[in-house]
Amino acid sequence: MGGRPPSKQTRGQTTSPGAARRRPVDNERTAPYVHLDAAANAPRASPAEGPTVASPPVHFTVAFRREMARLPAAQRQEWLSQIASTMARGEHDGQPLELGEVARGCRLSLVEAVAKQLGPFDERHLSALLEVPRERFVRPQDVALSADDTPLPLDTTGLATISAPHAYVLSFRVLRLAPGDSLVELGTGSGYGAALAAWIVGPKGHVLTIEIDPLLARWARDTLRSEPNVLVVDGDAESSTPFWRDAKKIVVTFAIESLPSAWLEALPDGGKLVAPVGKAEQRLVLIERRRGVLVETDHGAVRYVKNRSTR
Ligand SMILES: C[S@@+](CC[C@H](N)C(=O)[O-])C[C@H]1O[C@@H](n2cnc3c(N)ncnc32)[C@H](O)[C@@H]1O
Repeated sequence: MGGRPPSKQTRGQTTSPGAARRRPVDNERTAPYVHLDAAANAPRASPAEGPTVASPPVHFTVAFRREMARLPAAQRQEWLSQIASTMARGEHDGQPLELGEVARGCRLSLVEAVAKQLGPFDERHLSALLEVPRERFVRPQDVALSADDTPLPLDTTGLATISAPHAYVLSFRVLRLAPGDSLVELGTGSGYGAALAAWIVGPKGHVLTIEIDPLLARWARDTLRSEPNVLVVDGDAESSTPFWRDAKKIVVTFAIESLPSAWLEALPDGGKLVAPVGKAEQRLVLIERRRGVLVETDHGAVRYVKNRSTR
């Protein structure tokens, strides 16, 4: 069984120590396409005999999700850890549908905690946190932690992380990100932020995201290949303004000591740029151009990885 690191408890998550410790039985883990109650009684199918369906039947998502929501949060998390360790042992092919559903179940607690501690947020922003599969954007060894409100490393440099989930909705709230928007993200990392934004802006919106590390850019491009309205560009964000085109909302995901003048000049009228500004301590700063005038507002303390520009 995959052990659950003690520090993984989602902030604000309530788990009752006395809660019934109902472990998912084998069939629940191996035959996710059937209702959990039926699964508990069903004979275990070998992988070769198992159902093969292209997309989940409705009763999988509806009944299974309802059942997941009823499980104590700690148990959902334990289940995710089990699947993650099965995958780490190479006993799962690819990223099974079951992983997606269980990880989503774990994010129910995440979304609840973020809304309670830092809300209110736009419902669509919270839905994106729930629906976008963060487990696909983390390193394989971090899948069990993917529903935690914590940043996770993307490589061994210490210069790139997938940010804590709450950090994205803080910036999106400041930008008032909405369906139909065109967003530029500076610092793609894993591509998770771009996927959240794509979910929020919807099919009529666009997300352009720029990453300085070519390996990360390639990884993100691959993970985001099924997102038609996201474009990942290799490059240094400091000289990225020619790519911004008509985008009116810009989000920066690495810390900058001060706002480059090129960014401020490129911000169109009605445009908004949100960035973590500062050295050791950073503030989330919003710059808006209103009728030609730049207006700055402070949105609290944040902590991001540093700018990797060599300019
Ligand atoms: C906190 S991570 C971004 C998290 C990302 N949004 C995600 O969802 O995974 C910051 C990213 O900015 C990138 N970065 C840092 N400086 C940059 C620059 N000058 N231009 C472009 N990308 C940069 C880093 O390589 C890193 O991937």
